Amino acid sequence: MSNDNKSIHEFDFNLICEYFSSIERQGPGSPEVTVKALSFIDNLTDGSRIADIGCGTGGQTMVLAKNIKGYITGIDLFPTFIDLFNINARKLNVQDRVSGVVGSMENLPFQNEELDLIWSEGAIYNIGFERGLMEWKKFLKKGGYIAVTEASWFTDERPTEINAFWHDAYPEIDIIPNKIAKMQKSGYIPVASFIIPEDCWTKHFYNPQVEAQKKFLNKYKGNQTAEELITNQRHEAQLYSKYKEYYGYVFYIGKKI
Ligand SMILES: C[S@@+](CC[C@H](N)C(=O)[O-])C[C@H]1O[C@@H](n2cnc3c(N)ncnc32)[C@H](O)[C@@H]1O
Repeated sequence: MSNDNKSIHEFDFNLICEYFSSIERQGPGSPEVTVKALSFIDNLTDGSRIADIGCGTGGQTMVLAKNIKGYITGIDLFPTFIDLFNINARKLNVQDRVSGVVGSMENLPFQNEELDLIWSEGAIYNIGFERGLMEWKKFLKKGGYIAVTEASWFTDERPTEINAFWHDAYPEIDIIPNKIAKMQKSGYIPVASFIIPEDCWTKHFYNPQVEAQKKFLNKYKGNQTAEELITNQRHEAQLYSKYKEYYGYVFYIGKKI
């Protein structure tokens, strides 16, 4: 019985990975926004050490690689994503300084004070914003930077439907000043924060999924997991379109004190 459960579980994981591998990014963002966030960071040289945590297939990492010198390690839990990450690095001919490694953000493979920059787009929620900021800090040199995107409320109050959705999905979502205060309390100078624009969600994340969903449903016709996955993705996209003035992702950039 437990073996059956395990194989079903693994099958689910494989399905989810296959779906998200078919799109360029696994979360909202854009090349322009990655470059903008990078513009606040001033300590990098060709010897710098950078980590991209929860890198997925490396959509944003390859943008980093094009815009900065130094060594970038991408870390993600899923081997399928890391395989694609390393293929993308080779395509860009940066494989000598950009490499993807399978690993967990809860147990990072770095030395204390090894890193100049920690990057993480749409992924810190997996460990939690405050916990991630606190636990990852030891890997940064003094004066090193952290740049993360995090789901945040734009208003003090919002409609019940979207409030309930996020309360269930990620109760740590909060208004921007509270997130910045947490960054300060965690031992960083909050250097900058900005709301990522709507096209990061639409043009770069939800729109490419429309075609991918059709193909995926066609391939897995009658498969309950596949159908539920797509229903959830479509529901999320609809919620975003309905409630986008109440929430979004915010880039938070901090400098270790
Ligand atoms: C929403 S996706 C964002 C991916 C990518 N940064 C982007 O913006 O396209 C979140 C990523 O975090 C990864 N992830 C989830 N839990 C993780 C963990 N404990 N350790 C490392 N990566 C994790 C997922 O596999 C996924 O690739």
